[in-house]
Amino acid sequence: MQRGNPWRRLADGALIAPSLLACDFARVGEQIEQVIRAGAEVLHVDIMDGHFVPNLSMGPPFVKSIRKFTDHPLDVHIMVTDPEYYVERFAEAGADSITFHIEATDDAAGLIRRLGELGLGAGVTLRPGTDAEELRDVAADVDMVLVMTVEPGYGGQSFMEDMLDKISAVRGMLEPGQRLEVDGGINAETAPRCAKAGADVLVAGENIFGSGDIAAAVQSLRRAIDASAN
Ligand code: DX5
Ligand code: ZN
Repeated sequence: MQRGNPWRRLADGALIAPSLLACDFARVGEQIEQVIRAGAEVLHVDIMDGHFVPNLSMGPPFVKSIRKFTDHPLDVHIMVTDPEYYVERFAEAGADSITFHIEATDDAAGLIRRLGELGLGAGVTLRPGTDAEELRDVAADVDMVLVMTVEPGYGGQSFMEDMLDKISAVRGMLEPGQRLEVDGGINAETAPRCAKAGADVLVAGENIFGSGDIAAAVQSLRRAIDASAN
């Protein structure tokens, strides 16, 4: 599979992005194969630095190992206070797209430009408390906007209903080829509602890896999204 910015070359329509934060780290390769076989188009990787969010997760060596294991698109979500530094580290490690928090930088436009130079997808994300208007100046330049549907930091939290209006507002700022991702509390009940509001990349952690049957969980998400599209 082709490497680099995945967002405009993947087929139109909703994409499923399992969040590896919720996988069994002792069996990560096996579980990646399961989600890919079940039809997940993208792998979502959550990076936490213990500062921007009160939790730690994985770093560049994890991404490097996954990169050697699969050509599947790696969608790296960096919840860190120093995105300028870490964009370079995760680019070297093999990310295909990097999404940074708009709250963590004074120069979102510069970071988006840098991601373009690196040949990577450029994603910008907002915490639940950050107004959609904060995106206005850079909306035209990004490949993807991630609307957080929980407070970043932990998997397994409940979907925040009041983010549905924000999803619609952000969709209204984007052109058709630009992606809108949602992340946090996504399952077969919340995914179709987000898709109806304008989301087309659905991240899910607990719902997939905590389910006991990974393939069935991916397929049931897909069915729920497809049913809502008709
Ligand atoms: C939260 C992370 C999410 C998280 C989603 O900080 O960005 O990607 O893993 O997990 P679930 O789907 O379990 O809410
Ligand atoms: Zn995430």
